[in-house]
Amino acid sequence: MDENTILTRSHYQAAAAYIQGRTTHRPQIGLILGSGLNPLADEVTDADRVLFADIPHFVQPTVEGHIGQLVIGRLAGKEVLIMQGRVHPYEGGTLQQATLPVRVMHELGIGTLIVTNAAGGVNPAYRPGDLMLITDHIGLMAMVGGNPLWGPNDPSLGPRFPAMNHAYDPALRRLALTVATRLGIALRQGVYAGLGGPSFETPAEVRFLRLIGADACGMSTVPEVIVARHSGMRVLGFSGISNAAIADPDSSAEADHEEVLEAGRILIPTLIALLRGVLAEM
Ligand code: HPA
Repeated sequence: MDENTILTRSHYQAAAAYIQGRTTHRPQIGLILGSGLNPLADEVTDADRVLFADIPHFVQPTVEGHIGQLVIGRLAGKEVLIMQGRVHPYEGGTLQQATLPVRVMHELGIGTLIVTNAAGGVNPAYRPGDLMLITDHIGLMAMVGGNPLWGPNDPSLGPRFPAMNHAYDPALRRLALTVATRLGIALRQGVYAGLGGPSFETPAEVRFLRLIGADACGMSTVPEVIVARHSGMRVLGFSGISNAAIADPDSSAEADHEEVLEAGRILIPTLIALLRGVLAEM
Protein backbone atom coordinates (compact mmCIF):
# COMPACT_ATOMS: atom_id res chain seq x y z
CA MET A 1 0.00 0.00 0.00
CA ASP A 2 1.37 3.40 -0.79
CA GLU A 3 1.21 6.29 1.59
CA ASN A 4 -1.61 8.05 -0.24
CA THR A 5 -4.11 5.24 0.19
CA ILE A 6 -6.94 6.35 2.45
CA LEU A 7 -7.84 3.45 4.70
CA THR A 8 -11.54 2.71 4.95
CA ARG A 9 -13.69 0.29 6.86
CA SER A 10 -13.28 -2.37 4.17
CA HIS A 11 -9.51 -2.43 4.86
CA TYR A 12 -10.15 -2.91 8.59
CA GLN A 13 -12.69 -5.65 7.88
CA ALA A 14 -10.27 -7.48 5.60
CA ALA A 15 -7.60 -7.48 8.33
CA ALA A 16 -10.13 -8.55 10.97
CA ALA A 17 -11.40 -11.40 8.79
CA TYR A 18 -7.84 -12.66 8.27
CA ILE A 19 -7.16 -12.62 12.03
CA GLN A 20 -10.45 -14.39 12.78
CA GLY A 21 -9.40 -17.13 10.37
CA ARG A 22 -6.19 -17.68 12.36
CA THR A 23 -7.68 -18.09 15.85
CA THR A 24 -10.74 -19.47 17.56
CA HIS A 25 -10.38 -16.99 20.43
CA ARG A 26 -12.78 -14.06 20.44
CA PRO A 27 -10.92 -11.47 22.56
CA GLN A 28 -12.71 -8.53 24.17
CA ILE A 29 -9.61 -6.79 25.48
CA GLY A 30 -6.71 -5.50 23.39
CA LEU A 31 -3.24 -4.66 24.69
CA ILE A 32 -0.46 -2.75 22.98
CA LEU A 33 3.04 -3.41 24.32
CA GLY A 34 5.56 -0.58 24.17
CA SER A 35 9.33 -0.64 23.81
CA GLY A 36 10.98 -3.41 25.81
CA LEU A 37 7.68 -4.86 27.06
CA ASN A 38 7.35 -7.82 24.64
CA PRO A 39 7.84 -10.54 27.30
CA LEU A 40 4.45 -9.72 28.75
CA ALA A 41 2.90 -11.65 25.87
CA ASP A 42 4.73 -14.81 26.99
CA GLU A 43 2.20 -14.97 29.86
CA VAL A 44 -0.63 -15.73 27.44
CA THR A 45 -1.87 -19.33 27.38
CA ASP A 46 -3.44 -21.21 24.41
CA ALA A 47 -1.72 -18.57 22.30
CA ASP A 48 -2.25 -18.14 18.57
CA ARG A 49 0.43 -15.94 16.99
CA VAL A 50 -0.01 -13.90 13.84
CA LEU A 51 2.77 -11.80 12.30
CA PHE A 52 1.81 -8.26 11.29
CA ALA A 53 3.56 -8.98 8.00
CA ASP A 54 0.91 -11.61 7.15
CA ILE A 55 -2.15 -9.45 7.96
CA PRO A 56 -3.64 -7.40 5.12
CA HIS A 57 -2.80 -3.68 5.44
CA PHE A 58 -0.76 -4.04 8.66
CA VAL A 59 2.60 -2.26 8.66
CA GLN A 60 5.70 -3.97 10.06
CA PRO A 61 7.44 -1.99 12.87
CA THR A 62 11.05 -1.03 12.14
CA VAL A 63 12.20 -0.13 15.67
CA GLU A 64 14.30 -2.49 17.80
CA GLY A 65 12.20 -3.99 20.59
CA HIS A 66 9.00 -4.03 18.48
CA ILE A 67 8.44 -7.57 17.15
CA GLY A 68 5.33 -6.95 15.06
CA GLN A 69 3.22 -9.90 16.14
CA LEU A 70 -0.25 -10.46 17.53
CA VAL A 71 -0.54 -12.92 20.41
CA ILE A 72 -4.14 -13.98 20.96
CA GLY A 73 -5.17 -16.19 23.85
CA ARG A 74 -5.99 -16.23 27.57
CA LEU A 75 -4.49 -14.11 30.33
CA ALA A 76 -5.83 -13.93 33.89
CA GLY A 77 -9.07 -15.59 32.83
CA LYS A 78 -9.76 -13.19 29.94
CA GLU A 79 -9.44 -13.59 26.18
CA VAL A 80 -6.95 -11.00 25.01
CA LEU A 81 -5.31 -9.83 21.83
CA ILE A 82 -1.82 -8.49 22.45
CA MET A 83 0.21 -6.44 20.01
CA GLN A 84 3.89 -7.17 20.52
CA GLY A 85 5.15 -3.88 19.22
CA ARG A 86 3.60 -0.98 17.39
CA VAL A 87 4.32 1.33 14.48
CA HIS A 88 5.13 4.93 15.43
CA PRO A 89 4.20 7.90 13.25
CA TYR A 90 7.90 8.83 12.91
CA GLU A 91 8.60 5.55 11.09
CA GLY A 92 7.21 7.21 8.01
CA GLY A 93 3.76 5.79 7.35
CA THR A 94 0.55 7.71 7.81
CA LEU A 95 -1.23 8.22 11.12
CA GLN A 96 -4.02 6.06 9.71
CA GLN A 97 -1.54 3.24 9.14
CA ALA A 98 -0.09 3.64 12.63
CA THR A 99 -3.55 3.36 14.17
CA LEU A 100 -5.00 0.70 11.86
CA PRO A 101 -4.53 -2.08 14.46
CA VAL A 102 -6.88 -0.25 16.84
CA ARG A 103 -9.53 -0.01 14.11
CA VAL A 104 -9.08 -3.74 13.50
CA MET A 105 -9.44 -4.50 17.22
CA HIS A 106 -12.75 -2.65 17.14
CA GLU A 107 -13.88 -4.67 14.10
CA LEU A 108 -13.00 -7.82 16.07
CA GLY A 109 -15.41 -6.78 18.83
CA ILE A 110 -12.78 -5.58 21.28
CA GLY A 111 -14.32 -2.95 23.56
CA THR A 112 -11.39 -2.19 25.86
CA LEU A 113 -7.86 -1.13 24.96
CA ILE A 114 -4.92 -1.22 27.36
CA VAL A 115 -1.98 0.81 26.04
CA THR A 116 1.53 0.68 27.42
CA ASN A 117 4.62 2.64 26.47
CA ALA A 118 8.10 3.51 27.56
CA ALA A 119 8.28 7.20 28.44
CA GLY A 120 10.70 9.82 29.58
CA GLY A 121 10.10 11.10 33.12
CA VAL A 122 9.25 14.79 32.86
CA ASN A 123 8.09 15.13 36.46
CA PRO A 124 11.38 15.36 38.37
CA ALA A 125 10.01 13.09 41.11
CA TYR A 126 9.49 10.23 38.62
CA ARG A 127 12.46 7.84 38.35
CA PRO A 128 13.46 5.25 35.75
CA GLY A 129 11.72 2.02 36.64
CA ASP A 130 8.58 3.77 37.95
CA LEU A 131 5.21 2.74 36.58
CA MET A 132 2.74 5.57 35.81
CA LEU A 133 -1.01 5.27 35.34
CA ILE A 134 -1.90 7.68 32.53
CA THR A 135 -4.64 10.01 33.79
CA ASP A 136 -4.77 12.16 30.67
CA HIS A 137 -2.65 13.18 27.71
CA ILE A 138 -1.45 16.25 25.85
CA GLY A 139 -1.42 15.39 22.15
CA LEU A 140 0.98 18.05 20.96
CA MET A 141 0.98 16.75 17.38
CA ALA A 142 -2.75 16.07 17.32
CA MET A 143 -3.56 19.56 18.60
CA VAL A 144 -1.99 21.14 15.54
CA GLY A 145 -3.17 18.78 12.83
CA GLY A 146 -1.23 15.55 13.28
CA ASN A 147 -4.46 13.80 14.18
CA PRO A 148 -5.39 10.33 12.88
CA LEU A 149 -8.99 11.52 12.39
CA TRP A 150 -8.03 14.15 9.82
CA GLY A 151 -9.72 13.42 6.52
CA PRO A 152 -13.17 12.12 5.66
CA ASN A 153 -15.15 10.79 8.63
CA ASP A 154 -16.98 7.49 8.32
CA PRO A 155 -19.91 7.86 10.74
CA SER A 156 -20.19 4.08 10.99
CA LEU A 157 -16.80 4.18 12.76
CA GLY A 158 -17.43 7.13 15.04
CA PRO A 159 -18.48 10.78 15.29
CA ARG A 160 -16.82 13.65 13.41
CA PHE A 161 -16.06 15.43 16.69
CA PRO A 162 -15.39 12.85 19.41
CA ALA A 163 -15.12 13.97 23.05
CA MET A 164 -11.74 13.37 24.68
CA ASN A 165 -12.42 14.37 28.29
CA HIS A 166 -12.80 10.75 29.38
CA ALA A 167 -9.96 9.48 27.22
CA TYR A 168 -8.60 7.32 30.05
CA ASP A 169 -11.60 5.57 31.54
CA PRO A 170 -12.24 6.75 35.13
CA ALA A 171 -13.59 3.39 36.34
CA LEU A 172 -10.66 1.46 34.85
CA ARG A 173 -8.23 3.94 36.45
CA ARG A 174 -9.88 3.42 39.84
CA LEU A 175 -9.62 -0.34 39.35
CA ALA A 176 -5.90 -0.07 38.49
CA LEU A 177 -5.25 2.01 41.62
CA THR A 178 -7.16 -0.43 43.81
CA VAL A 179 -5.28 -3.42 42.42
CA ALA A 180 -1.92 -1.61 42.75
CA THR A 181 -2.61 -0.80 46.40
CA ARG A 182 -3.58 -4.39 47.13
CA LEU A 183 -0.40 -5.71 45.47
CA GLY A 184 1.83 -3.13 47.15
CA ILE A 185 2.81 -1.59 43.79
CA ALA A 186 3.76 2.09 44.00
CA LEU A 187 1.77 3.28 41.00
CA ARG A 188 2.47 6.87 39.95
CA GLN A 189 -0.20 8.87 38.14
CA GLY A 190 0.19 11.58 35.56
CA VAL A 191 -0.25 13.25 32.21
CA TYR A 192 1.48 11.80 29.13
CA ALA A 193 2.72 14.24 26.49
CA GLY A 194 2.68 12.70 23.02
CA LEU A 195 5.50 14.00 20.82
CA GLY A 196 6.53 13.29 17.25
CA GLY A 197 10.10 12.11 17.86
CA PRO A 198 12.32 10.41 16.89
CA SER A 199 14.83 12.89 18.32
CA PHE A 200 14.65 13.14 22.09
CA GLU A 201 13.74 16.49 23.65
CA THR A 202 16.01 19.46 24.19
CA PRO A 203 16.26 20.66 27.81
CA ALA A 204 14.17 23.71 26.87
CA GLU A 205 11.47 21.42 25.49
CA VAL A 206 11.52 19.37 28.70
CA ARG A 207 11.07 22.53 30.79
CA PHE A 208 8.21 23.53 28.46
CA LEU A 209 6.57 20.13 29.01
CA ARG A 210 6.79 20.64 32.77
CA LEU A 211 5.17 24.06 32.47
CA ILE A 212 2.21 22.72 30.51
CA GLY A 213 1.56 19.99 33.07
CA ALA A 214 3.14 16.88 31.58
CA ASP A 215 4.59 14.17 33.86
CA ALA A 216 5.96 11.88 31.16
CA CYS A 217 6.60 12.09 27.43
CA GLY A 218 6.86 9.67 24.56
CA MET A 219 6.40 9.11 20.85
CA SER A 220 3.32 6.88 20.69
CA THR A 221 -0.04 6.19 22.35
CA VAL A 222 -1.90 9.45 21.64
CA PRO A 223 -2.98 8.58 18.06
CA GLU A 224 -4.05 5.10 19.19
CA VAL A 225 -6.10 6.49 22.08
CA ILE A 226 -7.79 9.06 19.82
CA VAL A 227 -8.85 6.31 17.42
CA ALA A 228 -9.96 4.04 20.26
CA ARG A 229 -12.14 6.80 21.73
CA HIS A 230 -13.51 7.64 18.28
CA SER A 231 -14.58 3.98 18.09
CA GLY A 232 -16.18 4.11 21.55
CA MET A 233 -13.59 1.81 23.15
CA ARG A 234 -12.66 2.20 26.82
CA VAL A 235 -8.97 2.91 27.41
CA LEU A 236 -6.53 2.21 30.23
CA GLY A 237 -2.92 3.36 29.85
CA PHE A 238 0.41 2.83 31.60
CA SER A 239 3.78 4.46 31.03
CA GLY A 240 6.93 2.73 32.15
CA ILE A 241 9.34 5.53 33.04
CA SER A 242 12.49 4.49 31.22
CA ASN A 243 14.71 7.51 31.66
CA ALA A 244 14.67 10.96 33.19
CA ALA A 245 13.99 13.57 30.51
CA ILE A 246 16.88 16.01 30.82
CA ALA A 247 15.86 19.56 31.75
CA ASP A 248 19.34 20.94 32.51
CA PRO A 249 21.34 22.10 29.48
CA ASP A 250 24.58 21.53 31.41
CA SER A 251 23.80 17.90 32.30
CA SER A 252 26.35 15.41 30.97
CA ALA A 253 23.65 12.68 30.65
CA GLU A 254 22.12 11.69 27.28
CA ALA A 255 18.96 9.70 26.54
CA ASP A 256 19.34 6.61 24.35
CA HIS A 257 17.15 3.73 23.16
CA GLU A 258 19.24 1.04 24.93
CA GLU A 259 18.41 2.68 28.27
CA VAL A 260 14.72 2.64 27.29
CA LEU A 261 14.81 -1.10 26.51
CA GLU A 262 16.71 -1.90 29.73
CA ALA A 263 14.15 -0.05 31.89
CA GLY A 264 11.43 -2.06 30.13
CA ARG A 265 13.08 -5.28 31.30
CA ILE A 266 13.15 -4.03 34.90
CA LEU A 267 9.49 -2.98 34.77
CA ILE A 268 8.11 -6.19 33.31
CA PRO A 269 7.45 -8.21 36.51
CA THR A 270 5.56 -5.28 38.09
CA LEU A 271 3.56 -4.58 34.98
CA ILE A 272 2.67 -8.26 34.57
CA ALA A 273 1.45 -8.47 38.18
CA LEU A 274 -0.61 -5.29 37.82
CA LEU A 275 -2.14 -6.26 34.48
CA ARG A 276 -3.01 -9.74 35.71
CA GLY A 277 -4.76 -8.19 38.71
CA VAL A 278 -6.64 -5.65 36.58
CA LEU A 279 -7.66 -8.19 33.91
CA ALA A 280 -8.92 -10.62 36.54
CA GLU A 281 -11.35 -7.99 37.82
CA MET A 282 -12.47 -6.50 34.53
N1 HPA B 1 11.42 11.17 25.31
C1 HPA B 1 10.55 10.77 24.37
N2 HPA B 1 10.16 9.52 24.22
C2 HPA B 1 10.67 8.60 25.04
C3 HPA B 1 11.59 8.94 26.04
C4 HPA B 1 11.99 10.30 26.18
O1 HPA B 1 12.80 10.67 27.03
N3 HPA B 1 11.89 7.79 26.69
C5 HPA B 1 11.17 6.79 26.11
N4 HPA B 1 10.43 7.28 25.11
